[in-house]
Amino acid sequence: MRLAGKTALITGGSLGIGRAVALCFAQEGAKVAISGRGKEALEETASIIRSKGGEALSIVADVQSKSEIDRMVDYVLKSWGRIDILINNAGICHSKPVLDITEEEWDQHLDINLKGTFLSSQRVAREWVKRGEGGNIVNMSSVNGIQAEDNQAHYNTSKGGINLLTMSMALELAEKDIRVNALCPGFIETRLTRPAIQNRPVIKEYLKTIPMKRVGLPEDIAGAALFMASDDSRYMTGHCLVVDGGQVIKLS
Ligand SMILES: NC(=O)c1ccc[n+]([C@@H]2O[C@H](COP(=O)([O-])OP(=O)(O)OC[C@H]3O[C@@H](n4cnc5c(N)ncnc54)[C@H](O)[C@@H]3O)[C@@H](O)[C@H]2O)c1
Repeated sequence: MRLAGKTALITGGSLGIGRAVALCFAQEGAKVAISGRGKEALEETASIIRSKGGEALSIVADVQSKSEIDRMVDYVLKSWGRIDILINNAGICHSKPVLDITEEEWDQHLDINLKGTFLSSQRVAREWVKRGEGGNIVNMSSVNGIQAEDNQAHYNTSKGGINLLTMSMALELAEKDIRVNALCPGFIETRLTRPAIQNRPVIKEYLKTIPMKRVGLPEDIAGAALFMASDDSRYMTGHCLVVDGGQVIKLS
């Protein structure tokens, strides 16, 4: 078991990619705290982990709010005494042409995807530095943080920001034994993408852009998250790892 004795906090851990990461980490021996906005989905995921003999905490917390992030982190520290791994996975993505995006929609994408990642990372890293311990952060970015997709200006910008935040924090915290990396998934089947996947003509066209000719599964990302969160990647920091079936290498 590659995460035996470790505790992990996974934001947005109730559904989709976050849930697959939570189940994978629990299977690898980690205690897993999951947070998100929906109590029911959180409890469902936590009970799956417990039914398989794992330990799980579920916390309703909105990563747009600094006080909720503090409450989330305090709860895990009070319950388990430590956090070894932070996975900043909570995120939203709503398509809209750039000329139609409202200020509110812009702020919401930047607040949840980017500011939430910054505030959660800062809070947990401060704790590690205070205790003189190292730690490991994995940020859920996207291929949209590397290349621009149309109708996603707010989302693209938030994920590009995550990539630079990853490098910035990695740079400053490396000597404190804190690693900070990001994953850049391609098109993964979750609640976010299901409407497009169920639209046959759309998905048929879209698959032409993916050399491996299939949509990714949340478990494809969980495997990469396990690599980033475990000692298997111990000499990597500030890296943005693309997991996309080859989509971004394709020129046309
Ligand atoms: N699905 C994809 O194709 C894809 C591709 C690249 C990156 N990603 C990223 O992966 C992450 C997970 O996406 P997913 O596809 O599993 O989506 P999802 O909608 O299935 O899950 C999103 C999770 O984030 C949580 N969340 C949303 N807003 C929140 C908030 N304000 N505070 C706390 N939690 C919040 C939800 O409760 C849920 O648990 C996101 O950051 C997304 O941008 C997804």
